[in-house]
Amino acid sequence: MRVIRDPGKLNRLLKGVRRSARSIGFVPTMGALHPGHLSLIKQAGRDNDTVVVSIFVNPTQFGSQEDLNKYPRPLKNDLALCRKARVDLVFLPDSKIMYPEGFATFVNVEKLGDILCGTSRPGHFRGVATVVAKLLNIVAPDVLYLGQKDAQQSVIIARMIKDLNFPVKIRVLPTVRQKDGLALSSRNVYLNEDQKLDALVLSKALCLAKSLIDHGQTDASRIINRIKELIGKKKQARIDYVAIVDLEKLRQIKKINQDCMICLAVKIGKTRLIDNCLITYD
Ligand code: PAJ
Repeated sequence: MRVIRDPGKLNRLLKGVRRSARSIGFVPTMGALHPGHLSLIKQAGRDNDTVVVSIFVNPTQFGSQEDLNKYPRPLKNDLALCRKARVDLVFLPDSKIMYPEGFATFVNVEKLGDILCGTSRPGHFRGVATVVAKLLNIVAPDVLYLGQKDAQQSVIIARMIKDLNFPVKIRVLPTVRQKDGLALSSRNVYLNEDQKLDALVLSKALCLAKSLIDHGQTDASRIINRIKELIGKKKQARIDYVAIVDLEKLRQIKKINQDCMICLAVKIGKTRLIDNCLITYD
């Protein structure tokens, strides 16, 4: 496994891979790797000849009041996990190389970036789209691997790829959870023991919603109210949003009679957690 910090060098190295017609799978991350990230890396390894993982805590996607400085950075452990998962190349740039003096170009996916998580995190998805566009240009992978955990992010990146003609396929893989249902997230380390218990309410609320739908409930607002009621019982939980949206434009739907997803963002103490579940008809 090689660790490369320079975008030009990585791009040149990967040109060789491409020339020999070997496929490149790419998993962008902010590090603090957990089994959710590893599921993407392993799938990239099954599908491709070469696996590239980037580890970069991207400053442009953090608001000024957010956790950029305290975001976990267990680099040694991350590199060991990558090595064990048979990653070929780790791209490990720093902020100066990604955003040099004079940097002025941003990618903004309109509308989709302003709703749901975008409402309480203005500018977040502009930062995400910008860094992913840069990474796609540097790595030029055949396939980009993303997690369903960050559903809105995946939809926005898919939109950007289509709109800007990036020649890459996307695979979105299911959310990896703890046995108790909590979706794995690098931010879970911020939770204390009590908060970890309260955080289970996110996946429990999604299970409740799913079972209401399985029992014939089709009224989105009733389902949303039941979710809010359940989450409201937890002292440390503060709802940011609960929404049931279509899968492409992320518009709220009133009746559950099409493919959609139920999305939640909830603050547990100071930690903002998100989760979602897909409802599909096929
Ligand atoms: P990060 O939060 O590190 O996540 C990297 C990738 O792992 C994302 O595609 C995310 O959806 C996926 N992931 C996270 N938790 C997961 C879980 N429990 N199960 C399955 N997949 C999971 O998302 C980012 O970084 C950044 O915004 C990034 C795209 C790297 C741009 O900076």
